[in-house]
Amino acid sequence: MFYLILNYQLNILLLEKRIHLGKLVDSLIKKFDSITKMKCPECKSLDYSREFLFKENSLLYVFPTSFPTRTILYFQYICTIVMNVMKNGVLECFYLIIVSFIYFLLFHIIMISPEDLLKLYSDGNLYDLENTTQRDIDFWKSVVEPPKVSSFLELCCGTGRIGAELLPFLHTYHGVDLSNSFLETFRRKNPDSLADFELFQGDMKNISTGRTYDVVAIPFNSLSHLYTFEDISKTLQNVKRHMNQNARFVFDIHNPSLELLLRNPSEEFVAKEFVDPRSKEKIIVYESNRYDRSTQINHISWRYVNEEGSEVKRLELPMRVFFPSEMDNYLLYQGFKIEAKYGTFDKKGFDSESPKQIYVCQNRG
Ligand SMILES: C[S@@+](CC[C@H](N)C(=O)[O-])C[C@H]1O[C@@H](n2cnc3c(N)ncnc32)[C@H](O)[C@@H]1O
Repeated sequence: MFYLILNYQLNILLLEKRIHLGKLVDSLIKKFDSITKMKCPECKSLDYSREFLFKENSLLYVFPTSFPTRTILYFQYICTIVMNVMKNGVLECFYLIIVSFIYFLLFHIIMISPEDLLKLYSDGNLYDLENTTQRDIDFWKSVVEPPKVSSFLELCCGTGRIGAELLPFLHTYHGVDLSNSFLETFRRKNPDSLADFELFQGDMKNISTGRTYDVVAIPFNSLSHLYTFEDISKTLQNVKRHMNQNARFVFDIHNPSLELLLRNPSEEFVAKEFVDPRSKEKIIVYESNRYDRSTQINHISWRYVNEEGSEVKRLELPMRVFFPSEMDNYLLYQGFKIEAKYGTFDKKGFDSESPKQIYVCQNRG
């Protein structure tokens, strides 16, 4: 029974083709698998595995179900061990206890709650160093031009890269983000001057700030962090709940480039370079990607390499790709009217060559 459950869980991990395992975890799992030697045909049908993020040698397993499921799994383990001990005695089960203890630790490393999905958004200072782009700021300033706009809700506000620039033009700025660390970085940008400034830790799918706004925004490709039809629908409905009667919903996403999506996954390209202020080292970020045509998720990998050529960190960034008419249809289906669609931040009309899809929408009710 214990072997079955142990193997059951291990196979869930091993059967996930897209798995990126740290070396240690990888070898441990293989070892356990060879110990247990059993096959578990029904594992395939389990919907446990989803995405693995790899960061600083630790493996982060994004568990689609959250705390209750994890609790049940832990409980399941403990019961199995206790039952084995009761049936066979402690000595007979000594080996099992040791294995299960190690596996328990291992599993603990692996099972990280969905709230930690955005581990890659865990270091606000680093994010600001890497994302120094200003090319969208003037666009967002034009969106909040008075007198029509005085209240602004930014979903996925991050470290305030955009929000902090808009504060002087607004009466109300509210920001929402999953990452507490990012919100902290935003708060340190000292936006005390604004009458009504508030940041909320939460999920764009279901957060409620308890009020409505003149503009609801989701900037900088953040909608691409939604992977399923259900999540996209929930988010669009939630946006609507936060809009004033004449409010605008404004967001930008990439205009997918087939050339980029279909790059050879084993080839790497320099994505960005920056100097890490802590180590004073120049860091080059190498990017590779693998596009899954069935899910429309582009699995981007970033390898951070220092001047000596050593890898200091690796991030996996799954981004949902939205094709132009697909997004138009989502919006219409969810009751939005597309007032304008731009292809660049200087408001050129959207066309085949446009790097971006920038939407300005109204609520049709
Ligand atoms: C690409 S960054 C954009 C941050 C900021 N708007 C900017 O322009 O720099 C994406 C942000 O979305 C946040 N995020 C991702 N999924 C989220 C969700 N479901 N709900 C709220 N925030 C989310 C991340 O924590 C991260 O700060």
